[in-house]
Amino acid sequence: MGGKHFDTAAADWDQKQRRVELAAAIAAAIKDNLPLNGEMTALEYGCGTGLVGLALAPQLKSLTAVDTSEGMLAVLARKLAEKAITNVKPLNLDLVRSSLPEKFDLIFCAMTLHHIQEKDQLLTTFCEMLRAGGILALADLYEEDGSFHGPEADGVSHHGFNPENLAETLKIRGLIQVHSTTIHSIVKTSGSGEQRSYPVFLLSGRKKK
Ligand SMILES: C[S@@+](CC[C@H](N)C(=O)[O-])C[C@H]1O[C@@H](n2cnc3c(N)ncnc32)[C@H](O)[C@@H]1O
Repeated sequence: MGGKHFDTAAADWDQKQRRVELAAAIAAAIKDNLPLNGEMTALEYGCGTGLVGLALAPQLKSLTAVDTSEGMLAVLARKLAEKAITNVKPLNLDLVRSSLPEKFDLIFCAMTLHHIQEKDQLLTTFCEMLRAGGILALADLYEEDGSFHGPEADGVSHHGFNPENLAETLKIRGLIQVHSTTIHSIVKTSGSGEQRSYPVFLLSGRKKK
């Protein structure tokens, strides 16, 4: 499931109800759990077609929407043009290999960390890119047995996470008020008709002032 997969998937990405519901649940959990305000500059990493970011952007001053898939970013750019949204800026950037000399009040990352091999390096970068008092929010799968993406998947680096381990990583990097909560459960039906649930967590923390 590398960049090419996402480029190909982009056109129909929003057609899957399961994805739309998940993104809505993540956006709602971020709104409910974190103190957003119209003065905040935010960065979303792995924004896809903007399902999460566009739900939050009206409550933010600005959103830099980062992804490495041109296909995903093109769908997002089309939505921005259609809806005349001016406070969201799509950006093709790989923060593992490049940097962005900006700091943000909020960084969020939804269902993307499991695609990043160098996740600890990326978490360090996120923490460095937060302003003092800024908030980091990560939504992703709890540890699973690999059946979520299936055996054919490429570009999947982690079969979910234990949020307690991620929380320790964030605390070591200086974040405070670190806590996680279960926000959603994705229900998938396998080829044999068996239904499986994959719970999703939201982990957040704040950079010291
Ligand atoms: C499962 S999708 C989630 C999209 C969106 N956050 C959502 O919830 O609808 C994962 C996204 O991460 C992006 N992605 C994968 N690897 C990435 C990387 N190394 N850096 C930035 N984005 C990446 C993909 O292009 C894709 O848009």
